[in-house]
Amino acid sequence: MKRSLWLEHVLPFTLLLGLLAAATLSGDYLLHRLNLVWVGRYMGIPGTLLIIGSLYYSARKRKWVTTGNPKSLLKGHEFGAWLGSLMVLIHAGVHFNAILPWLATVAMGVNVISGLVGKMLLNQSREHVQGERERFQLRGLSKTEVEQAVFWDAVALGAMVQWRKVHIPIFVVFSVLALGHIFSIFLFWGWV
Ligand code: HEM
Repeated sequence: MKRSLWLEHVLPFTLLLGLLAAATLSGDYLLHRLNLVWVGRYMGIPGTLLIIGSLYYSARKRKWVTTGNPKSLLKGHEFGAWLGSLMVLIHAGVHFNAILPWLATVAMGVNVISGLVGKMLLNQSREHVQGERERFQLRGLSKTEVEQAVFWDAVALGAMVQWRKVHIPIFVVFSVLALGHIFSIFLFWGWV
């Protein structure tokens, strides 16, 4: 049975992103209704800490650290970055006083989207190439023939892998802008 691309990839992507938007709006609405806007102001801190914590996966992947199962750490990275971004989005709220933190928020948004797109596209093309390989093997093709048959798909898969090349520079831009915002707030609070 041919599995639906829509059901397996586009829908989860839309749901995860839609849920982020819906949770941001309802979180902000609730904080305003309960007169707890100040809580949102402080939510930037746990949100930032969660995002930083989720980077443990990146360190593990590059073997800078050696403990932890990479697969579960990837799940942790996806979940931590998603939840941390939600907290930061609620923290940003609908207050417009300064440009820098909003630029950081936009960069963070692009970062989250590039992560989600990469995750969905990568899974989709990986499964596709694997399916094709199995199909050709069942037809009795030799290993080299199978690799020749899936060559262009494998090239496309390689291109999908490039998403990381977008994900990381965007993360760097996000970090620099966020650090600028955090540093100026800490200066204002007299913490530095
Ligand atoms: C340690 C982490 C953080 C702290 C302590 C912090 C603190 C603050 C504070 C005190 C304000 C209120 C400023 C005001 O009312 O003028 C603020 C606003 C804001 N923050 Fe953060 N923040 C943190 C992390 C972040 C991050 C990571 C982002 C985005 C990626 C972000 C985006 C924003 C935005 C968009 C606003 C609203 C700016 C405006 O009023 O125009 N914050 N933050």
